[in-house]
Amino acid sequence: MKWDSGLYDNKHNFVAEYGKGLLEFVPVDKSQSILDLGCGTGLLTAELAKLCGCVLGIDGSLPMIEKARRQFPKLTFEVMDALKLLFIQEWDVVFSNAVFHWIADQDLLLQKIHKSLKPSGKLICEFGAFGNIQIIEEGFRTVLEDLGHIYHSKFTFPTVEFFGSLLIKNGFVIDKIYEYDRPTPLNDGDKGLYNWARQFFETDLKGFTVAEQDFILRNLLEKVREKLWNGTTWVADYKRLRVIAHSTF
Ligand code: BEZ
Repeated sequence: MKWDSGLYDNKHNFVAEYGKGLLEFVPVDKSQSILDLGCGTGLLTAELAKLCGCVLGIDGSLPMIEKARRQFPKLTFEVMDALKLLFIQEWDVVFSNAVFHWIADQDLLLQKIHKSLKPSGKLICEFGAFGNIQIIEEGFRTVLEDLGHIYHSKFTFPTVEFFGSLLIKNGFVIDKIYEYDRPTPLNDGDKGLYNWARQFFETDLKGFTVAEQDFILRNLLEKVREKLWNGTTWVADYKRLRVIAHSTF
């Protein structure tokens, strides 16, 4: 998926807003170093900078990193693939909000994070849990199927049990792991879900004409309206997996 950094901050700014809840788990310690994995446009990296002595924001998307650098010129941001981290025992904390569900190989991801952390270093992360956006994906799948197409989800939303087992396999001790429902109001009133789906199903819609895309998106809204429209706002059925763990050596 191509990330549009302007659209991301203007329409999906709730991503960073909700991420602020996760900041409560980051100890305040000016001697610590923090890696913000999947920093996007840097909004949470800037908050992390207030809690530590050294922070680096990394993201796989150049437009996101360019915007982060423009917004926060005093902070350091690098384009980096999370599955190709080369750090060895460098960070006290790896922090990540709303990123892991974009990464299919979460086993390799945890292996790389574990290598990057100092002994007893902390992983503090939150992302989509099993069942996240289930209503939206089911609606989208049905609309595509009605048109003779198959929907292949590109997201990885694990259960607590499965992700917990990956953490242990990769040398982590789990301090907290739990899931919770976080119904998420989308910006833009009656256009909220249409715009959300147009962005996040962009690769699935690519092969269709603009008119067909519009037809698919309108049909999606009708399929899920009863469950996700509250009369004034679309509320996405987000479900989060929150993890606090530390590495052992
Ligand atoms: C999420 O944050 O759960 C999410 C965002 C975009 C697409 C899919 C899931």
